[in-house]
Amino acid sequence: MAKIDILLLGQGGRECALAWKISQSNNCGKLYIAPGNGGTMAYGENVAISPLDFEAVKTFVLANGVDMVIVGNEDPLVAGIYDFFISDSQLSGIPVIGPSKDGAQLEGSKDFAKGFMQRHNIPTARYMSITKENIAEGYAFLESLEAPYVLKADGLAAGKGVLILPSLAEAKAELAAMLDGMFGKSSSTVVIEEFLSGIECSVFVLSDGNNYKILPVAKDYKRIGEGDTGLNTGGMGAISPVSFADDEFMKKVTDRIIIPTIDGLKQENITYKGFIFLGLINVNNEPMVIEYNVRMGDPETEAVMLRIKSDLLELLQATATGTLDKASLVIDPRYAVTVMMVAGGYPGQYEKGNVITGIDKAGDDSILFHAGTKVDSNGNLLTNGGRVIAVSSYGATKNEALSHSFTTISKIEFKDKYFRRDIGFDLK
Ligand code: AMP
Ligand code: GLY
Repeated sequence: MAKIDILLLGQGGRECALAWKISQSNNCGKLYIAPGNGGTMAYGENVAISPLDFEAVKTFVLANGVDMVIVGNEDPLVAGIYDFFISDSQLSGIPVIGPSKDGAQLEGSKDFAKGFMQRHNIPTARYMSITKENIAEGYAFLESLEAPYVLKADGLAAGKGVLILPSLAEAKAELAAMLDGMFGKSSSTVVIEEFLSGIECSVFVLSDGNNYKILPVAKDYKRIGEGDTGLNTGGMGAISPVSFADDEFMKKVTDRIIIPTIDGLKQENITYKGFIFLGLINVNNEPMVIEYNVRMGDPETEAVMLRIKSDLLELLQATATGTLDKASLVIDPRYAVTVMMVAGGYPGQYEKGNVITGIDKAGDDSILFHAGTKVDSNGNLLTNGGRVIAVSSYGATKNEALSHSFTTISKIEFKDKYFRRDIGFDLK
């Protein structure tokens, strides 16, 4: 196959891991990352374009003969980048990996996602969507539920739009506050959900609209503190495989969730050629959907990419052409883990611009995926975010993979570095 030139949109650890994997493909010509970070530069060329500036993306794609656009983060998808390409005569032949704007509503609107699951009998928590007009019904629904209470802003809220409240009084007060604009327009509709109890995992599916491949299952660790305590973060680490996501569990996931999701999208005439991220919860061995995302997870991608032996770009090309049934996906049986090194103080206030040393000392079993880094004009690598570097490693066992990451982390220094030592603690 001829080599193709690619534009990857995004700037986090996820995009660094995608760039690492895609750049290994024999089909990969030039790889551009917009805007990228201090780590993506090792795999391609960073270009200073915002993924949300579609006109700038268009100009770049046409000027550089880009053959495929891969969207890492959700914002451009929810804003309609797929539709922007399809409806432009100069761009319509250039595939965009990611759903149409309608499909991106699975992540962009919790109300849409819940309605979709209800229409297609996909197992999920009972819910009610509330606006200011029917707040009284919201209070009544809360009264019918048991503590704790789950409130979700309908729209994107940078991962902060979900509140879990211990008492009915707090739930009612927070419902009113959300509808009053706690998350701006994102919470003008609020989804109230029944609380589900169980252990979560992230299932990633690549779909061309008809066929699908299930990528390695992962589990992420969102809280800042060990034992899953303290504030929520963008993710402190991830591990794959997930011991409870065995063949029996995955058969239920496939039959009850993946196939109905793909069929449901087709029935609703929604074009979806890209990643589907199922945030699942295992309730007494029954998988239920907590949320859909329309992209890969971060930091799950930093573990999942290690376990894909096949050529990811070939899989994405098959996604674009609707031939995923003919593509092969071979998975590495080893464990992969990623441990996020973060700046002290994160997810509260933290410093940026501190020098990072030791990245050349990473062991052979570890791969560094930069999340928040940049290179200054003197060539120094600096911290440039709360999450700084994801240290990913292979191992024959979970503990072996973890120990490789910890050894590497001990050699990388920046002021007030912090990381969790218990990634995977709740799995066998
Ligand atoms: P979401 O943004 O929908 O993934 O929600 C963020 C987190 O809140 C999830 O990862 C869960 O840990 C928790 N959560 C969301 N919905 C529920 C629910 N119905 N029951 C229990 N926990 C939930
Ligand atoms: N790790 C969860 C997410 O990417 O949303």
